[in-house]
Amino acid sequence: MAIISSKKSAGDGANKKKPDDQAGKALSSQALADGIAMPSRAEQQKVRKAKISAKVKAKIGEEKGGKTDSAKSDPTKTDLLKGEARPTELARHEDGIRPEAINDYIGQKALKEVLSIAIQAAKSRQEPLDHLLLYGPPGLGKTTMALILAQEMEVDCKITTAPALERPRDIAGLLVNMKAGDVLFIDEIHRLSRVTEEILYPAMEDARLDITIGKGQSARTRSIPLQPFTLVGATTKVGALASPLRDRFGLVQRLRFYEIDELTQIVLRTADVLKTEVLPDGAEEIARRARGTPRIANRLLKRVRDYVQVKKLGAISGAIAAEALELFNVDPCGLDWTDRRLLTLMIENFNGGPVGLDTMAASTGEDSQTIEEVYEPYLLQIGYLQRTPRGRVVTPAACRHLGYEVPHNRFFMPDAPLFNLLSPEDSPQDESQNTIQTSKSSEAID
Ligand code: ADE
Repeated sequence: MAIISSKKSAGDGANKKKPDDQAGKALSSQALADGIAMPSRAEQQKVRKAKISAKVKAKIGEEKGGKTDSAKSDPTKTDLLKGEARPTELARHEDGIRPEAINDYIGQKALKEVLSIAIQAAKSRQEPLDHLLLYGPPGLGKTTMALILAQEMEVDCKITTAPALERPRDIAGLLVNMKAGDVLFIDEIHRLSRVTEEILYPAMEDARLDITIGKGQSARTRSIPLQPFTLVGATTKVGALASPLRDRFGLVQRLRFYEIDELTQIVLRTADVLKTEVLPDGAEEIARRARGTPRIANRLLKRVRDYVQVKKLGAISGAIAAEALELFNVDPCGLDWTDRRLLTLMIENFNGGPVGLDTMAASTGEDSQTIEEVYEPYLLQIGYLQRTPRGRVVTPAACRHLGYEVPHNRFFMPDAPLFNLLSPEDSPQDESQNTIQTSKSSEAID
């Protein structure tokens, strides 16, 4: 499997090709303005015929190694459309830390089951995998899963991110270069521009690229057949996705925070890859402070590895991991300086809340999107923060953890973590006795 990541390369004139007949010239002025090179009509017809028959015939596995190298035989790939979002080889595979097969992927049991069935079914029908939308907080393994899917389907994976697909030529360039069954991974898919979304609809549904040439009354739409492909979209904000786009995904799957035992296994596996000696209690200590997130677990492991190396300490034990992570300001629940600052400000300045997101952003100097997408999900998950219709409130467990008295006359619900990501002593207890529950606080969260 080749992994290709794409970045926007604005104004790359080398990608443009002049059409060779008059009609083509007139038709293609807009296309050229968009960085899209148009062929002559005869050429287009020839390509269209070839593509339609290729689409019927070209199934995964027709060619050696299960791949259809349509780029060689298909003139579209070389002459017709050349986009701006040019793929480049992504040589680095996160130091080999990412698992490459679904069986090596730890955690997300339900997701793996669903995807294993989809992979087996698609392979036996010799069809591409259905389009897949993965959502959940950052760092839980959405990109890793897309790469695994491509690997399991024995196809290539192109990686891009929505902000890099601003103009029609960006997405067009990627789509025309997809081979049958390839995976196109678009991160932050909720940030796609409207124009890119509209190009994606026929591409996802009918493997067709519709481009509009010209303006006003002379505007015409051209359709170019594409190879059927799989779009894997990833988002931290599934609610922000336009519903026509969301509805075009055959599979919509959520990634959940990991349990401590799953993260412990991930730390042990990564330590093995990095050839770092970690004792089981060392791995568990790192896992406990990793906010339910493999990316953080691996990052913490690397910091502890540095600490051990510089201090010449040998294998990473629980005590050593705790000592190192205290130094890096990661507390036993995995809260970092910003988490603690957020909660502390809410307690000290707002009597524990409710506080609006924008007020939290203004008082901490953090961007509200970062608070909402990066910090809040874990604090909500461990029951240290709650969302009410009037804003965010800290819970008694958060107050206790930070060494504060639980404020009186407050507006919060009883502590109720959704998952056990914390060790028992850090977990919120049932404080319904001494909380004041108003009718509003039990309404739907915002
Ligand atoms: N590294 C990062 N995430 C992982 C996972 N879910 N399983 C195994 N190794 C990982």
